[in-house]
Amino acid sequence: SLLWGETPANPAMRITDIQAVAEVAHLSGARLAIDSTFATPIATQPITLGADYVIHSLTKYCCGHGDAMGGAVLASKDDMRSIETDAQIHMGGVISPFNAWLINRGLGTLPLRMQAHEANALAVAQFLESHPQVTKVLYPGLASHPHHELAKRQMKNFSGMLSFQVNDGADRVSRMISELQIIHYAVSLGHHRSLICWLGTDDLMASSYHLTGDALRAYREFAGDGVFRLSVGLEDPEDLCRDLARALD
Ligand SMILES: Cc1ncc(COP(=O)(O)O)c(C=O)c1O
Repeated sequence: SLLWGETPANPAMRITDIQAVAEVAHLSGARLAIDSTFATPIATQPITLGADYVIHSLTKYCCGHGDAMGGAVLASKDDMRSIETDAQIHMGGVISPFNAWLINRGLGTLPLRMQAHEANALAVAQFLESHPQVTKVLYPGLASHPHHELAKRQMKNFSGMLSFQVNDGADRVSRMISELQIIHYAVSLGHHRSLICWLGTDDLMASSYHLTGDALRAYREFAGDGVFRLSVGLEDPEDLCRDLARALD
């Protein structure tokens, strides 16, 4: 059996203790797969912490420019065998050469881009934390994040993803769309350009996560009724804060 984790997790930014979960998984004979898309290989290398499989959406930070789609599964040769001889054949696993070329080119600047994403995200997170309309900011690099200590241990870079809550969040979506001039209102993440989208908890549960009971309560403790998820890009952070201030005021 396979235990699946995503850290930092989309969009509540919860952090999974990979080492601890790997020990639990292996004690019960399960394998551990970690989706490390938000962290990127610059921040976290799950296999060195005990995970068996690592998954990256290459569409995001690894490519970095929002112009190519791809994905990667990483594991030991033995663990990759069934993917190569089974999943890849039945589900298709061959990336288009042009997308591979774009992603490969993007990878060359990943270390420098991640430094800039992190610095910009921290500046924006601090700005949002001080804004009167913002009720909660979830960024692993902030001391206020409930998993900040774990994030410090596990992440060499806090990445560029953050989520925040505002009063009456769902009612502010149209203002975000009309007022933001630099940040683009769109899904996806990890691009050079900042992207923001509203992820209402009820919608997300109905469309994808389907959490119930304690799992749903734990999710709501972080994300409440919904969050604006912001993928902080490589623009000047002062421009990003001014853009958000205009949309929030
Ligand atoms: C954490 C995470 N993993 C994987 C994916 C899937 O990525 P792709 O668009 O490359 O299929 C997403 C998409 O948003 C994501 O957020």
